[in-house]
Amino acid sequence: TTYSLLILPGDGIGPEVMAEVRKVIGWFETNRGLSFDVSEDLVGGAAYDKHGKPLADETMAKALEVDAVLLGAVGGPAYDNLDFSVKPERGLLRLRKEMDLFANLRPAQCFDALADFSSLKRDVVAGLDILIVRELTSGVYFGQPRGISADDTPGNEGGRVGVNTQRYTSGEIRRVARAAFELARKRNNRVCSMEKANVMESGILWREEVQWVHDNEYPDVELSHMYADNGAMQLVRNPRQFDVIVTDNLFGDILSDAAAMLTGSLGMLPSASLGAPMENGRPRAMYEPVHGSAPDITGQGKANPIACILSFAMALRYSYGLGDEADRLERAVEKVLADGVRTGDLMGPEGGTPVSTSQMGDAIVAALAAA
Ligand code: NAI
Ligand code: MG
Repeated sequence: TTYSLLILPGDGIGPEVMAEVRKVIGWFETNRGLSFDVSEDLVGGAAYDKHGKPLADETMAKALEVDAVLLGAVGGPAYDNLDFSVKPERGLLRLRKEMDLFANLRPAQCFDALADFSSLKRDVVAGLDILIVRELTSGVYFGQPRGISADDTPGNEGGRVGVNTQRYTSGEIRRVARAAFELARKRNNRVCSMEKANVMESGILWREEVQWVHDNEYPDVELSHMYADNGAMQLVRNPRQFDVIVTDNLFGDILSDAAAMLTGSLGMLPSASLGAPMENGRPRAMYEPVHGSAPDITGQGKANPIACILSFAMALRYSYGLGDEADRLERAVEKVLADGVRTGDLMGPEGGTPVSTSQMGDAIVAALAAA
């Protein structure tokens, strides 16, 4: 089998961290006999500079052909004043929209060596490994009607109204629920669904539909339901009680950012966005670090490549069905961190000498052999 991958390094530190992923891919080809068909193209400001828009049509077409897309980051000060229609993030949004990536996966994994970076106590988070699945294409950010009513008219002081609509169809809920159950089967087989069925109609539908998908299609996976506000509390009180959490767009936005802080540095956080299954049965997918283009450290060899490398590990697991190789890569990252190798963002107050982006990549490649 040849695994196809479209690499879109993007802007700022994107190309710097992606160079380290290239090393990792090279290691898997040489040492594990895997064959990757890697192509590379422009996105964001880099694409704007060449094509006058943040994603060329050919790039979009290519993204729809490959097994997986790996994106670095887009944006930066040079592009901040561009017209909205050609801003770098529009390239990202176009990819998400045309690939119909409705399930956003945000793992929160706390490596033991970094447990002291967490916002919580070490004994609450050490060894944490949970996955939040956020519905990404519907809900209150998109629902109609939406808008702000006209200015106050005389005699109608305080009468303006801002409206958003939380609207979900059963189909939208079922497909993200299926994604969560599939993921749980590759992990610890437990899903906790979060909504507010106590006060929201869409929450009642959410709970019923997730339960329906469970009962009819995934009875082997353990399912629980939780009100999202309690979920926020439980995430901070005892996050290790969870395996996969599935929730809507709004709650997922908030809960995944809160969960990110359980793990420490932004430079460590991978993500994936999945769509419907393709002909090969695997979901359309785009993988990307959670961090942005980090203009403040661009070109200085300071960027932590781990978030992007762990994003590639997610591609191994979810797009290529290579869970063992994904585990191997994650073990290599864990080993390097346990050995005390640190980029600047992972330095505690006690200090030390940080390694460069490239040295971190080399250390991970070296650790792969023994992982
Ligand atoms: P950012 O994530 O780029 O940076 C925030 C802080 O974290 C900075 O101090 C940065 O140096 C540090 N940081 C981020 N990634 C790091 C890494 N891998 N290693 C070490 N340190 C790291 O967010 P910011 O500053 O708000 O945005 C900068 C630009 O990136 C903007 O143009 C923004 O629009 C864009 N952006 C793009 C995203 C994407 O492509 N998905 C996501 C977030 C922001
Ligand atoms: Mg957010």
